Amino acid sequence: MTTEDHGLSKRLVIEGRRIAAQHARLTELWQQFVAAFEGEQLELTRLTFRELRDGLLAHFDLEERLQIPALHGADAGLRPALARIVADHTRFREELSVLERHVEAGAFEALRGPAAKMSEGVAEHEDFEEKLFPGASKS
Ligand SMILES: [Fe+2]
Ligand SMILES: [Fe+2]
Repeated sequence: MTTEDHGLSKRLVIEGRRIAAQHARLTELWQQFVAAFEGEQLELTRLTFRELRDGLLAHFDLEERLQIPALHGADAGLRPALARIVADHTRFREELSVLERHVEAGAFEALRGPAAKMSEGVAEHEDFEEKLFPGASKS
């Protein structure tokens, strides 16, 4: 392993810890958003949704700028798993647009199904990443 490889591996582990911490924070934001729309609090629903959406989009971008290219270059065997992660992000960005329309319209009833589906998908996605990204595993 070259010094450069070693530096990248260390950085990936540090970033992996940051990714796992962001997953925990995003889970809290989901809970706040769900509580707001279940309580039919329009302003709070909008505020918590925007925070959740911005947090998720920044998080996906970070993974796509750092983890995905680094692991793609390091291990060709990981490529199908990395492609799945990027495909999930694309789907989540679309799902966020659907949620945003319901949030802006104050359509609480319409939010419930798509929000639950996306939340489940994101939780499963995060577990998958935490097993894959160096430094992100909880165990
Ligand atoms: Fe991700
Ligand atoms: Fe993630």
